[in-house]
Amino acid sequence: KQEGQPLRQRQRLLVVANRLPVSAVRRGEDSWSLDISAGGLVSALLGVKEFEARWIGWAGVNVPDEIGQKALTKALAEKRCIPVFLDEEIVHQYYNGYCNNILWPLFHYLGLPQEDRLATTRSFQSQFAAYKKANQMFADVVNEHYLDGDVVWCHDYHLMFLPKCLKDYNSKMKVGWFLHTPFPSSEIHRTLPSRSELLRSVLAADLVGFHTYDYARHFVSACTRILGLEGTPEGVEDQGRLTRVAAFPIGIDSERFIRALEVPQVQEHIRELKERFAGRKVMLGVDRLDMIKGIPQKILAFEKFLEENPSWRDKVVLLQIAVPTRTDVPEYQKLTSQVHEIVGRINGRFGTLTAVPIHHLDRSLDFHALCALYAVTDVALVTSLRDGMNLVSYEFVACQDAKKGVLILSEFAGAAQSLGAGAILVNPWNITEVANSIAQALNMDSEEREKRHKHNFIHVTTHTAQEWAETFVSELNDTVVEAQIRTRQ
Ligand code: G6P
Repeated sequence: KQEGQPLRQRQRLLVVANRLPVSAVRRGEDSWSLDISAGGLVSALLGVKEFEARWIGWAGVNVPDEIGQKALTKALAEKRCIPVFLDEEIVHQYYNGYCNNILWPLFHYLGLPQEDRLATTRSFQSQFAAYKKANQMFADVVNEHYLDGDVVWCHDYHLMFLPKCLKDYNSKMKVGWFLHTPFPSSEIHRTLPSRSELLRSVLAADLVGFHTYDYARHFVSACTRILGLEGTPEGVEDQGRLTRVAAFPIGIDSERFIRALEVPQVQEHIRELKERFAGRKVMLGVDRLDMIKGIPQKILAFEKFLEENPSWRDKVVLLQIAVPTRTDVPEYQKLTSQVHEIVGRINGRFGTLTAVPIHHLDRSLDFHALCALYAVTDVALVTSLRDGMNLVSYEFVACQDAKKGVLILSEFAGAAQSLGAGAILVNPWNITEVANSIAQALNMDSEEREKRHKHNFIHVTTHTAQEWAETFVSELNDTVVEAQIRTRQ
C-alpha cells in the first residue's frame, strides 16, 4: 500500500446455506446465546483470505415474534451471520418434507417415498411449492444485503431453486452453487416430478460444483437427456450461455485435528480410553443417525464377524456414535428403533457379565473427545450406502499418525475416490464382504498398515478444506457473467 492510498477492501463472499453455522438458544424475550460451530465449511471459509465471508441461512429455531427476530438478527450480525426466518409450516413442508423426505433419499439412491401414492402426490405438490417459497425467501435476504462486486455461493440440495431467484433479481450477480450430496444417475433424477424445473434453476448459476467427477457427469447427463441441452467438457450450454460444471472435492482442516492431539485434555482422554479398552481392539463408527449411513448393515456385518470368528469375541469392541438428526422425519424415527433393536439383540447374544461387544451412543461428542476416540481406534468403519464425500474418514486418518489404524470405507462414499488406495473398500450392502474386511483389517501386519496410512495421510493433509473453498471461489470469480458478455458484444 502506498502512502495516502486507501486500504483495498476485501471482496465480499455471501455464503448461503440452509443452516447457519450457529446454534441459537433463546434466553429471554430479547436475548439469545449463540454457539458457533467449528464445522468443515466454517473453517474452510476462514481460510479464504482473499474474501470476507458473510453467512446467510436459517438459525434452526422458530422465532415468531418481531422482538425475538430483531434481537437474534443483532446477535448474529456480530458473528457475520444474517438470518432467514422460516415459520413452522414452511420448515415442515420445505425442510422436513421436500428436502429431507424427497430430495435427500432420492439423491442417495433410496428412491421417492412410495407408501401412499396419492397422498404422496398431493403432498409432493404442496411441498414443492413450499420449497420454492423458502428459496425465494433466501433470495430476498441475499438481495437485500448484496452489494455490487459481491460473490454469492449457494450450498446444497436445499437451495436448488436459489440461483434462478437470484439471477431474476440481478443478472449481473456472480452466483455459484455447490452440492454436498451425490448427484444421482440421470435415470434416478428423471423420476422426480419437478426434475426439469430444478435443473433449469441450478443452471442459472455461473459455476456448479460437485465433490466428484461422477456426480458432475451425472448432472450434465441429466441436463442433456432431460432438458435436451448440450453438454461440453466445460459444462452445459443453453442458447450460447455456458454454465460451468466441475468437480471440487472437499477436504478438512487437518491441522486442527493434528494439533488437538497435543492438547493435555485430549492426551488424558486417550490414556483413559486405552486403559478402559486394554486388551481389546477398538473399532469405531461415527455417523449421523441417517439411513444413508448404513448403520444397521454395519452392525449386522459386525455380528457376522463375531459369529464366524469366535476367538475374537472378547478381544474386540465396536464403538458406534450415532448422532441424532432430523428427528421430526418419520423415516429417521423408525431407523432409531431399528438400530436399537439390532444392538440390543447382538449385545444380548455375545455380551458377558463384564463386557458387551457394541457400545452404541445416541449423541454427539465434543471435538476433543472425538479426536481422542479417533486416535485410539484400530479400525474405522465408514460404510455409508451412499455419501457425498464423508469427512469422518478424513478426520480419522488425520488423527492416526501414531497408530496407523485401518480404514474400511464404502465404495459408495465420495471419499473412496481419494482414499481408495489406502482403505479397504467394501460394498456396504454385502454383509459377508464387510465381515471379511473386518477380519482382514484386524489381522493386517504393521508394514501394510503403515503403507496404507501414509497414502491416506498425505492426501488428507494436502487436500484441505481451505484449498477447496479457495479453488471454488476463485474459479467462480473468474467466470464471466452472462450480462457482462452481452454488454461487451
Ligand atoms: C448433510 C448436508 C448438509 C446438512 C447436514 C446436517 O451433510 O449435506 O447440508 O447441513 O447433512 O443435516 P441438517 O438437516 O441437520 O442440516
